[in-house]
Amino acid sequence: MTDSMKEKIAALTGEFARIPGGMLPLMHAVQETFGHVPREAVPLIAEGMGLSRAEVHGFIGFYHDFRCEPRGETVIHLCRAEACQAMGVRELEAHVKSRLGINYHETTADGRFTLEPVYCLGNCACTPSIRIGDDVYARVTPDRFDQLLSERVES
Ligand code: FES
Repeated sequence: MTDSMKEKIAALTGEFARIPGGMLPLMHAVQETFGHVPREAVPLIAEGMGLSRAEVHGFIGFYHDFRCEPRGETVIHLCRAEACQAMGVRELEAHVKSRLGINYHETTADGRFTLEPVYCLGNCACTPSIRIGDDVYARVTPDRFDQLLSERVES
């Protein structure tokens, strides 16, 4: 971790340590600044917020929005909410995980894709739904996913 990163984390921690319940906005600010919460930041955050390192790790683990590793170039959000479940998203989910070789909250080895669950994409009439980057796709089958993925890889 560079000195500049340490200074930014110290500044953010100092800002939010004064606010009751400041841990949550602090973590959002750190993630927004760096794209993730660097593991090396945990001791600095713990010290600045008067917490143990274990408490900070527990906080990161509790809120799935926070991640310690950078995201891939493209984030794939797979809808796991009720309407998509009813239309077979579990089969699609197994295929997506197998095809990418990763589980939820993980990134492919080449850094291209991160897989995240989402609970409704507002596309419930055309399930199963998936978002790849900024684009939402409807009625996605395993074959359609492979096609969409190939288009992304080739672009
Ligand atoms: S439940 Fe999947 S898009 Fe709404």
